[in-house]
Amino acid sequence: MPVENMQESCSLDNYLAMPDHTMDGRIAAARAKLGKDALILGHHYQRDEVIRFADFTGDSYKLSKIASQSSSRYILFCGVHFMAESADILAQPHQQVVLPDLNAGCSMADMADISQVEECWSKLLAAGLDTPASGGLIPLTYMNSTAAIKAFCGERGGLVCTSSNAKAAFQWAFARARRVLFLPDQHLGRNTAHVMGIPASETVVWDPYQINGGLTPDRLRAARVILWKGHCSVHQRFLPEHADKVRAAYPGIQVIVHPECRLEVCQKADAIGSTERIIQIIEEAPAGSMFAVGTEIHLVNRLGKRFAPLGKKVITLDDAGCLCTTMFRISPQHLAWALENMVEGRVVNRIRVSDDIKHWAGVALNRMLEI
Ligand code: 13P
Ligand code: SF4
Repeated sequence: MPVENMQESCSLDNYLAMPDHTMDGRIAAARAKLGKDALILGHHYQRDEVIRFADFTGDSYKLSKIASQSSSRYILFCGVHFMAESADILAQPHQQVVLPDLNAGCSMADMADISQVEECWSKLLAAGLDTPASGGLIPLTYMNSTAAIKAFCGERGGLVCTSSNAKAAFQWAFARARRVLFLPDQHLGRNTAHVMGIPASETVVWDPYQINGGLTPDRLRAARVILWKGHCSVHQRFLPEHADKVRAAYPGIQVIVHPECRLEVCQKADAIGSTERIIQIIEEAPAGSMFAVGTEIHLVNRLGKRFAPLGKKVITLDDAGCLCTTMFRISPQHLAWALENMVEGRVVNRIRVSDDIKHWAGVALNRMLEI
C-alpha cells in the first residue's frame, strides 16, 4: 500500500538544489515506469519545462472532465490547488490526486472564505431574497474557489461554472430563480451578466469587509446579480488603454482576452474566451493573423513560439506580461519528486477533500458537467 508523505520520502530539498534541465530524464523515466497508473494533467499556464510532460493540457473545464473520466490510480495535477481539489471530488475511490507543490494556490479562490460567504448568505436570507415571493436566489461559484465554497453552492441548489460555461450556468440559474450570488470573481460575473443583457443597475458587488457587504437593503432588492468582491491579480492588470495602444501599433491585430479581465477591457476585445478557447481561435485563424492576448504570460509566450512558423503573430496585450506566481510554483523538480516517490510506492502531496464537503461539492460539479 502506498504511504503518504512518509519521513522516508526522497527529500524535496535534494531536488530543489538541482537545475531544471537535469530533471527531464528523471521525469521521463519515472513516468515510463508508472505507465497507465499515472495521469499527468497540465493547465495551460504551466511553464514549458512542466507542461511538456502532461498527458493532457487544458482549461479548468477540460481538465476536470478528463479527470472525471480517467481510471488511472494517480492523477498528478500540474495546476493550482482548487483544480486538484476538483479532481479529487470527481475521482473514483481507488484514485489519488497529487499537487506537486502544495503552495500552488490561487489568490482569487482565497478571496472567498467559507465563513464570509456564510455570513453574506445569512444577510441575503434576512433580506428575504430567497423567498418565492421575491423570486428566489441561487449561489453560483466559479471553479476557482475552495471545495467548501463549491459544497456551499451545491447544498443550496447552485452549481459550479468555469470560464467556458459561465453563460450556460447563469441561464440555468435564471431559469430557476430571479437572483444569483456569484462567487468569487466579480469580473467573470459582471462580464457574464453583461453578455446576458442584465443592466449594470441590476448588478451589485458584495464586499465581505464592509457591514452588509457595503450595500443598502434597497440596492440589494434591486439586484439580480450579486457579485463577490474577488478578482484575479493577473488579469485585473490588463487595462482598456492596452487594447488602444496595441491596435495603434499593429493595425489589424485582434484582441482576445480571458473573461477574468475587467468589463472595460472585454468590451474592447474582438473575442473573449477561456484559455482553451483562446488557443482554438488562434489555431483556426489564417496565416498572417495577429493577436494581442490578455491572459497569463506563459501561455501567451508559448502561443507566440508555436504560431510564428505558421505566419501568425501572438503577443501579450500589455507591455510586460503578467505571471501567475502560484501556477509557477509547480517546477520540474516538484514533478520529478512526486513521480519518483510514486514509483517507490509513496504518495506525496495528496489532495484529499473531506467526505462531507465532497458530497455537496460533487453535486455542484456534476450539475456543471451536465449543463
Ligand atoms: P481557464 O479555465 O480558462 O483555463 O482559466 C483558469 C484560470 O485560473 C484563469 O486564470
Ligand atoms: Fe488564480 Fe489568477 Fe492564477 Fe488563474 S491566473 S490561477 S485566477 S491567480
